[in-house]
Amino acid sequence: MDRLQPEPAEAEIDTLQIAAEGAAANAYAPHSMFRVGAALRLTTGEIVLGTNVENASYGLTICAERSAVCAMITQYGPKARIEAVCVTNLNKAASSPCGACRQVLAEFMDADAWIIFPGAHGQREIKRLSELLPFGFQLA
Ligand code: THU
Repeated sequence: MDRLQPEPAEAEIDTLQIAAEGAAANAYAPHSMFRVGAALRLTTGEIVLGTNVENASYGLTICAERSAVCAMITQYGPKARIEAVCVTNLNKAASSPCGACRQVLAEFMDADAWIIFPGAHGQREIKRLSELLPFGFQLA
């Protein structure tokens, strides 16, 4: 069996979180005032950022995680792969990636890759994609 991807080091998570907070500061969130940032660590080492971009027609809003995925593909092309994602918000809320974002991230992450997000008691939750999205949709 292949070895599971090891949990990212604390310093690595700190770096991703600071980057995600920077992205969240750029959020366009005049409707919810909920500012979210996502930092993707690619398997090649680069960090790619995304933030939420809302719309007056609420359903058109794009979440930070999906905005980061779009930036990743734009900058690094269709073969880009994610080894860790850190999601944060400036509202001090416990908040994990929404279901739509989990499904989109899954297209570019292995099941054992990491998703880090703020937990219910101010702690950082560090979960594998497989824990957040068991039975994700796959074509064939
Ligand atoms: N949001 C994200 O950016 N990521 C998520 O995973 C869930 C929600 C954004 C969308 C919207 O702009 C705001 O948070 C409130 O729902």
